[in-house]
Amino acid sequence: MMSERQIASEFQATALSPSRRWARHGHRGGVLWLTGLSGSGKSTLAVALEQELFSQGAQVFVLDGDNLRHGLNGDLGFSLADRRENVRRVAEVAHAFAETGMIVISAFISPLHADRDNARKMIGAGFHEVYLDADLSVCEKRDPKGLYRKARAGFIEDFTGISSPYEKPQTPELTLHTGIDQIEMCVAELLAYADTIFALSETKPE
Ligand code: ADX
Repeated sequence: MMSERQIASEFQATALSPSRRWARHGHRGGVLWLTGLSGSGKSTLAVALEQELFSQGAQVFVLDGDNLRHGLNGDLGFSLADRRENVRRVAEVAHAFAETGMIVISAFISPLHADRDNARKMIGAGFHEVYLDADLSVCEKRDPKGLYRKARAGFIEDFTGISSPYEKPQTPELTLHTGIDQIEMCVAELLAYADTIFALSETKPE
């Protein structure tokens, strides 16, 4: 006799192929996985790219750490175990969106190799790791939310870059030098990359 777990582990097939969904949207689906320190520009870049792609007629959505932590991931903190679970849930959601044929831009620190690699495995060929390379000193100087100051003063525990690790990606699909280059230039680079991997030139204007 089958256990409940065995029954639940069987997948239900869909009759719709990815290419049929892509044909409707006029582009491929997939995930641009932005990773980098707090203050490296993930949210800013994600929002700017989303706006640009949307006005080109693409189906696009941003998943942002600061937003998901109010809802789906509201029960999680910043221990490495909680970050792992945060990234796992985000990867599941991003994967589901990408399966619908959408372009997902995820903006999470996602500090550990192993966790990002799990996301890569889960999402498969549609996963594109984009490293926002900005030195800690630059991010700390920007300190848009005043969190580095609080972390240095000991008011925030396990703060990435200060009292919790950030492992730089070894072989990301794309690196953006957000600590040096202007945001407009980084958006343009990301847009050019998205154009290639999602075949955006097929996209119909809004
Ligand atoms: S992740 O490490 O689990 O991927 P996530 O991207 O969801 O992190 O959340 C990071 C955001 O939470 C930061 O941009 C910052 O605003 C806020 N934050 C609050 N506490 C911390 C902390 N201890 N370390 C890093 N970010 C924190």
